[in-house]
Amino acid sequence: MITLEKASKPLNGQIFVPGDKSISHRSIMFGALAEGSSEITGFLNSADCQSTIDCFRKMGIVIEHAMRPMNGVPIITVHGKGLHGLKQPTSTLFTGNSGTTTRLMSGILAAQPFETTITGDASIEKRPMDRIITPLTQMGADIQSMYGNGCCPLRIKGNPNLRGITYRSPVASAQVKSSILLAGLYAEGDTVVHEPAMSRNHTEKMLHAFGVDIYNELDVNGAGTAVLHPGVPLRGIKINIPGDISSAAYFIAAAILVPGSQLIIRNVGINRTRAGFIAVMQQMGADIELINVDESMEPKADIIVRHSQLHGNNNGKFEIAGRRIPTLIDELPIIAVLAATGDFETIIKDAAELKVKESNRIDTVVENLKAMGCDIESTDDGMIIHGGRPLKGADIDAHMDHRIAMSFAVASLVAEGTTRIIDDQCVGISYPTFFKDLFGLVNGTN
Ligand code: S3P
Repeated sequence: MITLEKASKPLNGQIFVPGDKSISHRSIMFGALAEGSSEITGFLNSADCQSTIDCFRKMGIVIEHAMRPMNGVPIITVHGKGLHGLKQPTSTLFTGNSGTTTRLMSGILAAQPFETTITGDASIEKRPMDRIITPLTQMGADIQSMYGNGCCPLRIKGNPNLRGITYRSPVASAQVKSSILLAGLYAEGDTVVHEPAMSRNHTEKMLHAFGVDIYNELDVNGAGTAVLHPGVPLRGIKINIPGDISSAAYFIAAAILVPGSQLIIRNVGINRTRAGFIAVMQQMGADIELINVDESMEPKADIIVRHSQLHGNNNGKFEIAGRRIPTLIDELPIIAVLAATGDFETIIKDAAELKVKESNRIDTVVENLKAMGCDIESTDDGMIIHGGRPLKGADIDAHMDHRIAMSFAVASLVAEGTTRIIDDQCVGISYPTFFKDLFGLVNGTN
């Protein structure tokens, strides 16, 4: 348990957040499937990414951690064995709390000439896997949910003769899209995935950098398509991973909330399929500036943020909905916290996906914001926040969900009284040094 108090002074200075989680997972997986070695800098050292490393080591991939001799920068080297180099693991592949590891790796396992069992922690065993079982089965794989409930454990009998499909995904999900595309690397014929809105495209960008013939199309209505032509081997590359915008969001929020604050958050990934949080905050009146923009494969920038008074639109309301949702799905808990402090109503809709994250985030956000005194109600696909009531300290049950723990740690900075986060250690899923970094800013010792 961790105890937090209202911030007594502004947050000032600069901070680097750890590497992007989505990109880190992919760098290990695609590196493993490439011919030759890949060198990764900026990798996120966290429980989720370690789960991916552990699984690929179990399948015979050598992954080394070292420090670059000249400047001491940590570097990970993945010694890829090519598309057909994985070996059958001798025990169940355990993916911990990581949906990305579970779903993306299932796509790869669907094409292997061996059988595997894959499962994770209690949260993973509740998350829906039928969304990947359906398309991977259409491609020719044999996947069984061992308890028959569409969840893990999954028994995956790989099929080296998969066929490419055109799949219309009912949900905008990068994990679903990526799982299908990874199976598509091994399939006969093209694989095409249509989504109702374009989800994060790190898989497409990174596979392209590894040499794969893959591209995205965005239609005029904002729906997204990914197209993969298989047959080209992946070749090892160097990958420099930017800071995670989902982690940066907590410090952007903290600076917006605490009077007098000004922070610069360096080297943050701003891929447009991930940057919805910044746009929404700017529309709510937040003073956020992007400098040193670097348009590399994964664009990045330094973000300057100052304390701001948030506002709704002309009618005193602010709606977050539709195609925008996938671009800020992981930031909705911290957006809800920010919205609670503004004197306006925020309506979040089309976000039923929140129910199947590491916790049911509609329930966990509403439960904890209510405990802090906020007037908030849940809906079938989101929530309505009647902002403006002062927040008060409370005991927060994050339900072992890292994003809930971090969002409410930020809320505590403006809440009257003491806040205690009961299961604070879950931040290790994506940001092991979160509290150290937060306290450094709060105490002015960063
Ligand atoms: C992720 C995709 C998103 C996101 C998750 C990471 C990824 O999930 O919420 O934290 O790395 O592909 P969905 O694809 O299920 O929306």
